[in-house]
Amino acid sequence: MQRERMTPDQQAEYQAALQSALDAGAQVLKEGGSALDAVKAAITPMEDDPRFNAGRGSVFTWEGANEMDAALMDGATRKAGAVTGVRTIRHPILLADAVMQDGRHVFLSGLGAEEFANGAGLDRAGPDWFATPRRKDALERLKAEQLSALDVDYKYGTVGAVVRDSHGNLAAGTSTGGLTGKRWGRIGDAPIIGAGTYADNRSCAVSATGAGEYFIRVGVAQEICTRLRLSEDPVSNAQTIADDVMAEVKGLGGTGGVILVTPTGQTIYSFNTQGMYRGRANSDGLNEVAIFKD
Ligand code: GLY
Repeated sequence: MQRERMTPDQQAEYQAALQSALDAGAQVLKEGGSALDAVKAAITPMEDDPRFNAGRGSVFTWEGANEMDAALMDGATRKAGAVTGVRTIRHPILLADAVMQDGRHVFLSGLGAEEFANGAGLDRAGPDWFATPRRKDALERLKAEQLSALDVDYKYGTVGAVVRDSHGNLAAGTSTGGLTGKRWGRIGDAPIIGAGTYADNRSCAVSATGAGEYFIRVGVAQEICTRLRLSEDPVSNAQTIADDVMAEVKGLGGTGGVILVTPTGQTIYSFNTQGMYRGRANSDGLNEVAIFKD
């Protein structure tokens, strides 16, 4: 993600979209809602926004479909729900929620997840809803020029939210279309509990974006939470712990970033790229959105 590759108008559009998501989550908390509900409220508008690689606007697989992954985790109970490879669910984060609420399983895939969704009363959509010309171009370029997904997905665009509510409960959610040109049922880090998504009231809630393979190998989200839980001074060390884990990702060759929130309400970013779409707000008046490192 480079400043010179985005026009001022594009930057303003992304900032407005981030602010809307932040406002939607904050409104839930203002009304006394739960961290889980705030995560869902922040993520669903981004799943409807074709600028982001989640829901509508998801990248294309090698075969030309949009296959989405999502996960949601409750830090109070460590209940979690996740789905991968779904094609007809307008808001995959809500299907992850339905899996979690149902409670029999944590992680559903493909046709089975779609079948489960039939009983969950969620909004469905056809291929035309998810497909966008920009993502189609990216797939065509990747194939024609034999590029990697990282060349055409220079703004990854996975979406996520982490929240601490007024009861002190934490929650994390992540939703994505994955990587352009993904094949063979490839699953990224976003729906893998502990890799791209994790929440535990004892330590933190984390959501990740970036090259999923590396985040899976490092177990980024749970690794950050575990280091924080075992730290003698988690408040002072939270930023360093997140940066250290992201440095491990970089050491293996992976790019991306994380957002996290702690039980004391620290809101932390760490990314090893030139930018990451992000925003944070709290009841003390903090309210910011940002794209680039500076
Ligand atoms: N981080 C999203 C993915 O790799 O699928």
